Amino acid sequence: MLERIEEIRGEASAAIAAAGSSAELEELRVRYLGRKAELTGVLRGIAELPPEERGEVGGAANRARKELEALLEQSAERLSASELEQQLVSDRIDVTLPGAPPRPVGHPHLIARTTRLIEDTMVGLGYHVAEGPEIEHDYYNFTALNHPPGHPARMLQDTFYVQSHPDVLLRTHTSPMQVRSMEAKPPPIFVVVPGKVYRRDSDATHSPMFHQVEGLAIGEGLTLADLQGTLLAMCRALFGAERELRLRPHFFPFTEPSVEVDVSCFQCGGSGELAGGERCNLCKGQGWIEILGAGMVDPNVLGFVEGHGYDAERVQGFAFGIGVERVAMLRHGVPDLRRFFDNDVRMLEQFG
Ligand code: DAH
Repeated sequence: MLERIEEIRGEASAAIAAAGSSAELEELRVRYLGRKAELTGVLRGIAELPPEERGEVGGAANRARKELEALLEQSAERLSASELEQQLVSDRIDVTLPGAPPRPVGHPHLIARTTRLIEDTMVGLGYHVAEGPEIEHDYYNFTALNHPPGHPARMLQDTFYVQSHPDVLLRTHTSPMQVRSMEAKPPPIFVVVPGKVYRRDSDATHSPMFHQVEGLAIGEGLTLADLQGTLLAMCRALFGAERELRLRPHFFPFTEPSVEVDVSCFQCGGSGELAGGERCNLCKGQGWIEILGAGMVDPNVLGFVEGHGYDAERVQGFAFGIGVERVAMLRHGVPDLRRFFDNDVRMLEQFG
């Protein structure tokens, strides 16, 4: 009996040492230490042995079992470490590989790209870019911009108000950021403000939500000529180096004087006629296309930020507001503004 135990011990420890995987090891554990294993049988049968043999055989069998258990445990550790290592190597994923099948990469919306183009041009002229709240106070949207109480833009049919807060509304233009920017920084200030604006308006050239870029320049000695030069640089970046500008007198509550700005038509070169002699359809034969509103900041507006270092006797400047959709429609020949917001990829993909 003792010899047999020794034989089992020898055979089992050699097999355990040679095992190449955790699964193989588990098989060996069942074979040598499981319920039906020979050694288990020996241990179970000790009680039936003659009393003088019990001690010796029991001791040997228990030692053999302990030794095999320890060997199994050591091998299990060794194998699971190397199996983990192997798995880590074979599971390695290269996250830089393209997906299968490769997915088309998206691109910024044409409105975002057009906004970026305007920003970049203005940054090139030394302007900062700022953004402001779309939910605005009546004070910034109207009052501080010199809109008198009965001004039509304040009416319900033009403006989205917040029902529970009569002095809160969706901003109708980016101009409120003129006042907010001046509150935040003393002069000189050169800032452009891109963003969404909201009006109760909806047709082929108007949408209840659209985008503007506001510009504001305040310093000492700024004149209408500086406004004209600045806008000329911007319009040439947007519509071509050959463009000319025309400033027409207009009215805005927050600028005085105010102008509407036309750019010479980039389809007919400003002549109003196409090569074949027909009337240019883009400018309707006018040679000019209306592109934005602007003006010299009204001293009344500066009066609202006097406490922030804006003394209307010392500093002055200009402001302008340009519609991003209108620029994009003109630049790319898009006939209907609503197409920008239908989210039809066949439309959007054309401007990648
Ligand atoms: N806020 C005006 C609008 O939405 C556009 C505008 C006109 C902005 C003249 C200006 C400006 O800064 O000087 O119709």
